[in-house]
Formats: sequence, structure tokens, C-alpha cells
Amino acid sequence: MSVHVVILAAGQGSRMRSNLPKVLHTLAAKPLLHHVVDNARALGADGTHIVIGHGADLVRSSFDKLTTDTQIHWSTQEQQLGTGHAVDQALPSVPDDATVLILYGDVPLTNTETLSTLLKHVSEKSIALLTVELDDPMGYGRIVRDASGFVQAIVEQKDATPEQLAIKEVNTGILAASASKLKEWLPKLSNSNAQGEYYLTDIIAMAVNDQMEVAVAHPACEEEVQGVNNRVQLATLERWYQAQQAERLMIEGATVIDPARLDVRGKVSVGKDVFLDINVILEGEVELAEGVVIGPNCIIKNAKIGANTQIHANSIVEDTEIGESVNVGPFARLRPGTKLSDRSKVGNFVETKKTILGEGSKINHLSYIGDAELGSNVNVGAGTITCNYDGVNKFKTEIGNDVFVGSNTSLVAPVKVGSKATVGAGSTVTKDIEQEQLAVARSKQRNIDGWQRPVKNK
Ligand code: UD1
Ligand code: MG
Repeated sequence: MSVHVVILAAGQGSRMRSNLPKVLHTLAAKPLLHHVVDNARALGADGTHIVIGHGADLVRSSFDKLTTDTQIHWSTQEQQLGTGHAVDQALPSVPDDATVLILYGDVPLTNTETLSTLLKHVSEKSIALLTVELDDPMGYGRIVRDASGFVQAIVEQKDATPEQLAIKEVNTGILAASASKLKEWLPKLSNSNAQGEYYLTDIIAMAVNDQMEVAVAHPACEEEVQGVNNRVQLATLERWYQAQQAERLMIEGATVIDPARLDVRGKVSVGKDVFLDINVILEGEVELAEGVVIGPNCIIKNAKIGANTQIHANSIVEDTEIGESVNVGPFARLRPGTKLSDRSKVGNFVETKKTILGEGSKINHLSYIGDAELGSNVNVGAGTITCNYDGVNKFKTEIGNDVFVGSNTSLVAPVKVGSKATVGAGSTVTKDIEQEQLAVARSKQRNIDGWQRPVKNK
């Protein structure tokens, strides 16, 4: 049985009050629709079909930059004539023998398990429906059951009788059915209802009429099937998602000082005894090995951090690899291409970019080190700068093992400093330094006797 997912994403989302199509608003830094596509991928779907309408070009191009193996079949619904009409737009690209799972582009957080359970209920003789009981079912389609509890139909809020409005079991919108049946039913939908729309939900009564069973599954919790209609709901769902992420990390062995002040915006893995202080943002792919400590107000993006390394307060780390027992920050900025070897140290107000720092080496204070390779046990004095850019091109600085660079040195790249060399403080280094040499490149100090300081004019 092949599974094809059809995602409805043609609606405008006018309650977002936004120029951006609703499904491109982000949750955990990822567009809502991309969450849904990833859910389909996690399910191992054989085909992904998305129905677009409002902002179609923007929605489609949001997938351009992604390198994903999921091929998407797009269909455009010019006019939003209803959910049934929307599904019908996608069906021509779905094989007849497929099982179709219908998802909404604005319902981002459905669990794979929930969906695969739902799919188990579909056959030629049954249609599967995901429903949930809500204390306040206002706005949703109600699940109408007969005296023996068999589902008979879905009635939309606007078409429901007062008795039906009292029903608390509602349609999540997520359902699964065979493609052949959908192809048979959808052309028969009528729009003579309160909203003048072709309701997908009317296929339930059609299935019952065809002597089919309507099998029902439920999500583990309400949030899984919650849609986003406005920014309040978006924020609520974001907080719920973040609480889940924090909980997962805690269960995997991380101490999270305040789960409400941690944000996970990507894939994060943690070893035992990781410690995450408040206001930490973890983005992209982040791997934190055992014993890693992330101080308050740090942003860590696409980084692999080795065991027992400490990132102190207010540091920003991006596209960086860090070894074991390294110390970073406070107030450090590690830019893309930084590699810090074991036991190295990057202190406060230090910026690095495309820099490899050898084992045990230190850049402790107030430096910019870019396009550089430093050996082991190097000490870079406070205020040292690599002048890597001449306004047009970038050049490399190479520093050997056991080098001592005095404070306030400018290393004008391209330049090489041999191992065990020493650079006097305040030097502007423009020429290579051989190993074990001392380089002093600053004007000589003069001391003038009896110097009279200026006095203030009256
Ligand atoms: C729908 C269901 C309702 C269910 C509710 C759950 C129908 C008729 N009703 O109602 O039973 O309780 O969802 O949230 O299906 N869309 C299109 N093209 C259209 C219409 C809608 O692509 O022509 C998309 C929307 O962008 C949205 C989704 O389908 O992602 C649902 O549409 P919406 O108008 O929100 O459906 P509801 O009226 O809330
Ligand atoms: Mg509607």
C-alpha cells in the first residue's frame, strides 16, 4: 500500500493580518507548512502533494533553498471553494491504488505515531478519521454518531442543529481514505450548505451510504491537532512545542534551569549532565556532549560541542566545532568556520571567523582572529587583531605551536609566525617571523627629561 499525503494550504489566513501567507509563518524558526511536510516525510510517505492558492509563488519558493529528498507535487486551487474542492485538485497526481492522508498546512505538530495509527484503519472497506473531544467545540465540524456509536456524518458548525452543536467530539480535519474512493466521491460533492462550499467532510456520509466503516483514531493530546488561525494561537503552540523540547532534553540528561526560558529551533542532542542556563537559544543542528555547560543568554547555532566544555554568558556560536574542556566567553562571538581544539580558550570580547585554534591555545581578551590557523599552546595577547582583509581580498594568518603574541598586535595577512616565536606587544607584523625569533615591530620608546605639560589658557 502506498501512502500519498495531500496537504491543504490554499487558504488566505486573513486572521493572521499579515502580508505573508499563513503557512509561511514560523514555529520554532520553521514555516508551519514545512513542519507538515517533515511530518509526512517522517511517516515515509510515497508522495507529497500540496494544494496552494493564496501566495502560491511564495509558498512554493519557500522550498527552493531546501535540500530535501522529498519531491513535492504542487497543485493550484485558483478559488477557495472548500476543502473537498481543494483535495480534488491534488488527486490527478495521486495513483488510484494509493491511500491518501489529508493534512492541513496550518496544523504543524501532529505526531508521526498518531498519523501511522490513523493509517492502519484505512482499507477498501473503511475510511479513517482523526477526532478529538473538546470542552469548547465552537467552530469545528461535529462528529455525529448513531445510537450504537457508529459515526454517521460530520456536520459543520454553521449547518448544525442545536442538538448537534452540543456534541463535543469534533473533526480535526485529518483523515485518510483510499484514492479510488476519493476519486469517486469528490466529484459528487454539493455546495448547497451554509457556507456555499464543497465540504470534504461530506464524504463521511457518502462512505456510510456505501456501507463502509468509519474508523476513528485520536491524537495523544489536543495540541497535536491544533491549527493556527491567528498570532495568539501561533504563540500558544510555539510555547507548547518548546515545553516539549525542554522536557525531552531533561529526560535525556540535561539540566534545564528554566524550561520556559529555553528555545530549541532545530535538532538538538545532549549528553548526560549538560547544563542549560536561562535564555539559551539552540538553532539548527546542535550536538552537546556530556557535561557541556551553556551559560545564560547564549545563542548556539549549528555547532558540535565536546565534553565538559563551558560556554559562558552572552556568547554567540555559529557553524563551529568545539573540542573537549574548552572555555568560551563570556561575550565571545564564534563565527562560521571556527574550530577550537581541546582545552583551548576564547575569552571575553573575542571574535573568531574561519579560525582553527590548536590544543591548549588561548585568545583571552578583546581580539579579532579571522582566516587564521593557530598551533597548540599559543598565547594571543589582549587586543590582537588579524588584518585579514585589504578591502578586496581576504588573506590567511598562520601561527605555529608555542607562539607568544604580545598584546595589541596587528598581524597583517598573509603572514606566518614560526613555532616558539615571540611577538612584542604593540607590533604591526607585516613580514613572516621564523621559528624561535623575537619580532618587535613598533617605534622605539623615547624618554624626554623635564617635560613641561601644557597649562590651560586663561
Ligand atoms: C475544517 C473542517 C471542519 C474541521 C476543521 C478543523 C471542512 C468542511 N470542515 O473547517 O470539520 O473541524 O477544519 O480545523 O472541511 N483550504 C483550502 N482550500 C479551500 C478551503 C480550505 O486549501 O478551498 C485549506 C485551508 O487553507 C486550511 C484547511 O484547508 O488549511 C482548512 O480550511 P478551513 O477553512 O480552516 O476549514 P474550517 O472551516 O475550519
Ligand atoms: Mg472554512
